[in-house]
Amino acid sequence: MTLPFLTLSCGKTKLRLVKTSKFGDSQAQFSKIIANLEVTMSVVKKVPMTEDATLPLTPLGFAAPKQQYLAQKNEIDQAITRVLTSEQYILGREVAAFEQEFAAYCGVAHAIGVANGTDALHLALRALNIGAGDEVITTPMTAVATVAAIGMSGAKAVFADIRPEHGLLDLAKLSGVVTPRCRAIMPVHLYGHPLNMAELLAWAAQHHVAVIEDCAQAVGAEIDLVAPNAPLTRHKMGSLGVMGCFSFYPTKNLGAMGDGGAVITQDAGLAAKLRGLRQYGWSTSRNSEFPGYNSRLDEIQAAILRVKLPHLDANNLRRRRIAEAYLHGLSGIPDLRLPWPTANTHPAWHLFVMQCRSSKQSPDLRDKLKEYLASQRIHAGIHYPVPIYQQPAYRQAYPHLSLPVTEAVTATVLSLPIYPELSLVEVERVIRAIKGFFAQ
Ligand SMILES: Cc1ncc(COP(=O)(O)O)c(C=O)c1O
Repeated sequence: MTLPFLTLSCGKTKLRLVKTSKFGDSQAQFSKIIANLEVTMSVVKKVPMTEDATLPLTPLGFAAPKQQYLAQKNEIDQAITRVLTSEQYILGREVAAFEQEFAAYCGVAHAIGVANGTDALHLALRALNIGAGDEVITTPMTAVATVAAIGMSGAKAVFADIRPEHGLLDLAKLSGVVTPRCRAIMPVHLYGHPLNMAELLAWAAQHHVAVIEDCAQAVGAEIDLVAPNAPLTRHKMGSLGVMGCFSFYPTKNLGAMGDGGAVITQDAGLAAKLRGLRQYGWSTSRNSEFPGYNSRLDEIQAAILRVKLPHLDANNLRRRRIAEAYLHGLSGIPDLRLPWPTANTHPAWHLFVMQCRSSKQSPDLRDKLKEYLASQRIHAGIHYPVPIYQQPAYRQAYPHLSLPVTEAVTATVLSLPIYPELSLVEVERVIRAIKGFFAQ
């Protein structure tokens, strides 16, 4: 493929700016971008637009953890060496410091580092003594981990249907599934989009159930709460429920280089319980005060997370810019439903998931588009292809369950590449490929 490009050079730095058809439509916009670059880079030489036959079509996936590492390689390598030479490998200085820094970032009093996000959810349930005989309401449109964690506690997951426009829990469906056995609700801020917490908290208070937020995909996402006659307040996801649970799986917005997770809470009693639960129920004198588990965040992962945390907001902002480029570049394609943020929310854009509306003429539109993108070396994902209650491990427990919106949405979702290191030129390539597919 040949694309026109402009090379800006500044000393030894060369920057290649590809002129796509989008800029072709708007020469003024293109010139403005060049002008901005000239200011920020003090450009000394411009090589005029030419054609480039050698522009490589690099494969694009929907996440790129290695690029994340390379972006901060020196600091990460130093952090790992610091731990290796510290002789403190488990629950030492790094975990303690990360817990403080992460709690401050989330605007809460306590953060407890644990082995992974699934354990974070499980230990949160156990901290409230939720177990056999209890029910926990959640969504079937999530990573299986959410439901696995409920199962680990001994409680039963009860599914409510989702909203078609964004795939988050449908709050209007909760009252239809709640029973006297329900002890908690576990909302998932899916793809990094905050669920309407004001409405959820009011519902939970009315039904006396605890809210444990699954924030595995929503670290750094925020929501504005509006109270009558009071100024609007902004809150990080995880800080409004009784506990918020996070995953630091390598592809997450705040990713370790292995497994990691955390629970956050404002409640000192719950924090102490969680610290016990993650380590055999030990007190400070290593007496098991209550039965616990082994679920510790390790020092190396904590040290890496401490390098990455200060960059999280900038990385999330970068994700937002990419999402905005997709939203604007793809709007107007009638067969696509795009993930526009809902009112008062500031998503973390962990994934950019659009829905491809199938029709009688094209019943498998999503799969055809996915295949077409793969032929262009763009690897889109599907989050999630099968509702949890229809998966082999769970279907026996829910033989008669049918949730129509979930079943319709799982057949249409497609996740586009989104990660901070993705260039806007690459985003344009994805948009062009999708437009090309629909123009066929
Ligand atoms: C929504 C959701 N919940 C929970 C988890 C579990 O996190 P982990 O893989 O760290 O156990 C994940 C991670 O995939 C997730 O996406």
